[in-house]
Amino acid sequence: MTTKIDAIKARLSIPAFAAPMFLISGPDLVIEACKAGVIGAFPTLNARPVEVLEEWFKRITTELAAAEQENPGKVAPWAANLIVHRSNKRYGPDLNLILKYKPDIVITSLGSPEKVAARVHEYGGLVFSDVNNVEFAHKAANRGADGLILICEGAGGHTGSMSADTFIPLVRKFFKGPLIVGGAISTGTDIKHTIKAGADFAYMGTRFIATNECQASDAYKQMVVDAEADDVVLTPYFTGIPAHFLMPSILAAGIDAFDLDKPRGKISFDEEDNMGSTWKDIWSAGKGVEDIHKVKPVAELVAELKQAYKS
Ligand SMILES: Cc1cc2nc3c(=O)[nH]c(=O)nc-3n(C[C@H](O)[C@H](O)[C@H](O)COP(=O)(O)O)c2cc1C
Repeated sequence: MTTKIDAIKARLSIPAFAAPMFLISGPDLVIEACKAGVIGAFPTLNARPVEVLEEWFKRITTELAAAEQENPGKVAPWAANLIVHRSNKRYGPDLNLILKYKPDIVITSLGSPEKVAARVHEYGGLVFSDVNNVEFAHKAANRGADGLILICEGAGGHTGSMSADTFIPLVRKFFKGPLIVGGAISTGTDIKHTIKAGADFAYMGTRFIATNECQASDAYKQMVVDAEADDVVLTPYFTGIPAHFLMPSILAAGIDAFDLDKPRGKISFDEEDNMGSTWKDIWSAGKGVEDIHKVKPVAELVAELKQAYKS
């Protein structure tokens, strides 16, 4: 296990993931991140219908194999994010395609990694599970996760509430595997602090929204660039679970800010009962927006992150 993680680290330009983001991470972002030496990841549900997922997997594996020929040993592994929540009707078909295309890493969210881990381990892949409290970290560690993704305060999407400095030592008491830590990490200096705090890898979502290759609309990217940390609000209103969203997108949808502390929607990955506009028109981002000032190509962003990380 240690050697597998060391082998992954040796292929990276910075120890970081472009974390999976619902609707907006796709093959362009994954391929460019991996070519730049950052682990690229996307939720399998972003490819709709399932036939599109096979096209994406084919394209990612083909283009990364070609990049590896050109730049041996310097192309980062890639990761598929499988939502294991019971509302995800694509779980079975998507897992079958994962077993066919064998991503180096499978990230499980919103449920036990146990069944996925058993299958992914058969082809030699690793399973990392995202967790936002110690109880879930214990459960994932006991159910076959090779690595734990600790979602800390300030994260985009369904955030955690602990600081990395608090969460990492609590998990280190019982888990010896790799720790991937996310939450408002936007700069090379942030990555440096995260690694110093005991993480093996930084997990960055919001920073990668403001890239040319992200599938978000131009208006969404610009809102991330324009927003300050206070424009990101924590609310259970849309999914029933506290998540961070950009206030200007909520106001633009005509939703009354006073309603935001009450849950209205429920979390669901079933397209039929998905709350139509959540994620599509109500845009998520983390508190790391504060340090994002420009939309740029992934290669340029990673070069900048690397420079600050190494300095
Ligand atoms: C728009 C958006 C959508 C997200 N969707 C998912 C998702 O589908 N699956 C998942 O595991 N995490 C999802 N996340 C969480 C990210 O993978 C990651 O944990 C988070 O972005 C890290 O915090 P940061 O945004 O402050 O960098 C999402 C985050 C954002 C901003």
